[in-house]
Amino acid sequence: MDQSPGTPLDAVSLPFARQLRDGFDRLVMEHQFAVDEVMTKVSILQREFMHLHHYNPIEHVNARVKSLDSILAKAVRKGLDPTVDDVRANLSDIAGLRITCSFIADTYRVLDALTSQDDLTVLSIKDYIAQPKPNGYKSLHAILEVPVFLSDGPVPVTVEVQVRTIAMDFWASLEHKIYYKYDGEVPHELVDDLTEAARVAQQLDERMAKLHGEIHGSAEMTAHHADAVSRIDGLVLQRLLAQSSGPEPRGT
Ligand code: GTP
Ligand code: MG
Repeated sequence: MDQSPGTPLDAVSLPFARQLRDGFDRLVMEHQFAVDEVMTKVSILQREFMHLHHYNPIEHVNARVKSLDSILAKAVRKGLDPTVDDVRANLSDIAGLRITCSFIADTYRVLDALTSQDDLTVLSIKDYIAQPKPNGYKSLHAILEVPVFLSDGPVPVTVEVQVRTIAMDFWASLEHKIYYKYDGEVPHELVDDLTEAARVAQQLDERMAKLHGEIHGSAEMTAHHADAVSRIDGLVLQRLLAQSSGPEPRGT
């Protein structure tokens, strides 16, 4: 669109502007549907895990779709064309989910359970837990493609999933606030303090996992134990069913 500021939209460009707006509205809507799809998957995993292991590895889940304003601002920052196609192809975090887990082992377990689902395509995985960023940032990041089934067929939509522990999340949200307060130019002393805080957060994660292990056995043992318990539950249930469907006990 070649409109200088103050020039009214003419009869030719108005339909074009409307088409562009409708395209972006649709893009945002598709990403909201994709978030809903992945949220359902996470919720199913959570409930199934509770059912099987009597244990919930997920503390909480946050989801968001970028507003049209921030999509356009990021598109400008990245030098993209202001078209739906260019934005769709180059912005992978329009839809985002953040899954916060209790323990480090759970972050890997949850991401693995999600990314191994057949209807999702894994576009990339970054393990900032094994390899933290220089500032101490830790998380698992996955860029996934999820099919969204619309009236005129399926549309592949990209979703960014971040998985981290409570301690990592606490650190990242504080770092984010500081980063924005100083517009990216964080003073040295604060950078040092943040690096130290990241180290303390790491220690907290290790100590909590150790304590958890001491109370319940290691995470693996807990899962095995829970499996054994559910097998025993199954046997008891089978026996009860056999009894109830069998002949009436004598003497009644
Ligand atoms: P963008 O940073 O979104 O352009 O994507 P990228 O390709 O650089 O991916 P990256 O994995 O670096 O970051 C994706 C997202 O992870 C960011 O939008 C943040 O939500 C989060 N993130 C990455 N690095 C940091 C960090 O140093 N601090 C905090 N608080 N969050 C971070
Ligand atoms: Mg980045």
